[in-house]
Amino acid sequence: MLDIPTLALANLKEWTALRKPIAIQKVLENISPEDGRPGAILASPSRSNPNYYFHWVRDAARTIRTLVALQSLDTYETFLDSTIKRYVEFSKINQNTPTPSNSLGEPKFYVDGTAYFKPWGRPQNDGPAERAIALIRWANLLLEDGRKDYVTENLYDGKEPSESVIKADLDFVGNHWQDSCFDLWEEVNGTHFYTRMQQRTALREGAALAKALKDNGASTFYNEQAEKIEDDMERFWDAQNNHLKTTIDWKGGANYKYSNLDIAIILGSCYGYSKDFPFYSPNHDRVLASAFSIHNAFLDLYPINSIKELDGEPMGPGIGRYSEDIYNPNGGKANPWFLCTLAMSSLCYQAAKLYDKDKTIKINDQNIGFISLAINSSEESTKLKVGDIIKSGKIKNKIISGLNTLGDTYLRRVQYHGAEDGSLSEQFDLNTGFMLSARDLTWSYISLIIAIDLRDNTPINDD
Ligand code: NOJ
Ligand code: NOJ
Repeated sequence: MLDIPTLALANLKEWTALRKPIAIQKVLENISPEDGRPGAILASPSRSNPNYYFHWVRDAARTIRTLVALQSLDTYETFLDSTIKRYVEFSKINQNTPTPSNSLGEPKFYVDGTAYFKPWGRPQNDGPAERAIALIRWANLLLEDGRKDYVTENLYDGKEPSESVIKADLDFVGNHWQDSCFDLWEEVNGTHFYTRMQQRTALREGAALAKALKDNGASTFYNEQAEKIEDDMERFWDAQNNHLKTTIDWKGGANYKYSNLDIAIILGSCYGYSKDFPFYSPNHDRVLASAFSIHNAFLDLYPINSIKELDGEPMGPGIGRYSEDIYNPNGGKANPWFLCTLAMSSLCYQAAKLYDKDKTIKINDQNIGFISLAINSSEESTKLKVGDIIKSGKIKNKIISGLNTLGDTYLRRVQYHGAEDGSLSEQFDLNTGFMLSARDLTWSYISLIIAIDLRDNTPINDD
C-alpha cells in the first residue's frame, strides 16, 4: 500500500508526479477482488448506487491496455506479467460462458465469471475489439521478448474456430462488425463511431499479428474487413454541422439525444489511435472540429464551469458524456465525468505530439476553431485564417504549445474536483463540484494515467 499524501493545490507538474503512482495503485486494488476469480477487474468497488461490482469487458480491456503500455516500467514487470496472464484466463472463461446475448459482445460478468442474466443493453460490440487490441499489443511485446510459445498457445492459435482469446475476438469482429449493437454508454442501439474505431484498429493490428504468425488467410480477411469499415465510416461526417456524428442507423434508445455530439467521438479517436495504422487520429481535422463543438457544448452547461481559474491559471470546463444526458440526473441534467474531461486533455496532448511530427499544418474550416482555441489559451494570441499553411517555425510552435496549454486547462478541472487523497469517482457535481456516483472508478484512474503520461511525453500511451 502507498502512503497516500494529502495534497492541497500545487502546480500541475508536482500534482501529476504525485497522482500518477496513486492512480496506478488504485487500479491495482480493483484487480482480482477476493470474492472473484483471479484476473477479474472491478469497474468500481461500489456495490450499490450504483452497483458497479462487475467485470465490464470494455473497462477491463482498457485497463489491461494501459498496464501493457506501462510494462516498460521495470518495477511492475513481474507483477504485470502474472496479472495479465490471469486476465487472459478470465477472458477465456468469459468467451466460453453462455450469456443472454450468446455473443462475444456480452458487456459484463460477475467477478466470479458467471453471466449476468438480467435485462441490459446488449450486445456491446466494442468489447471484444478492445480486448483484442489490449492483448495484441501484449502479444507483440512477448514476441519481441522471444516468448512465442505462450502467444501461440493462449493468445493466437491460428485455428478456426479458435480456442485462443485474440483470434476468437478478431474472428468475431471480422464477421460481426456490421451488426447493430449498443454504444459504450449502454443506451443506444445503432452503429457507433466509438465502436467502429475500436473494431478497425483491432482488425488492422490483428492483421499484422496474424501475418507475423503466418496465418496469412486470416491476415488478408482482417485487412479486407478493416478497409470496409474505413470506407463505411465516411457516413459519420456531418458536413452541415461540422462534426462527426456519434451514432448512425439509430434503432432505439435515448431519443432525447438530438445533437448526436458526444465525448465518445473523442474517446473513439484517442482509444482507437494506432501508431502504425493511423485513422481519425487525435489531430484529424474532423476530430478537432468535433472537439471544438464538444468544448462549446459544455462551456456554459454546468454552473461549476463558470469558475474559470485555479490559482490564477486557466481552468477548462468540466465535460460530460453529451449535453442532453440525463443519466443520474442532478436537477434534471447529468453531471460532468472525470474520464470525459480527461479525454479532452489526452486529445490535446496527443494532437500536439502528432502535429510536432507533421511537416505542415493546413488551416481549414474543420480545424480552425479548436486550433484557435488552443493558440489563444497561451498568452500572446495569433490570428489564423482558413487557407494558412503553417510550416515549422514560430506559429507551428505556438500551435503545439497552445494544445499542451489547453490540455492542461482540462487537467486542472480534474485537479480541482478530485479528492485530496487522490481518489476519483465517476462524476462530479455540476453545482458543487464534489465527487459523485461510483467511487474509485477504475476507468477514471486509467484516464488520469493516460493523460499524465502523454503530458510527460513518456512513451506509455500507444506511442
Ligand atoms: C457505465 C458506462 O456508461 C459504461 O461505459 C461503463 O462501461 C460502465 N459504467 C462501467 O464503468
Ligand atoms: C446504466 C448504464 O451504466 C449507464 O451508462 C446508462 O446511461 C444507463 N444504464 C441508461 O439507462
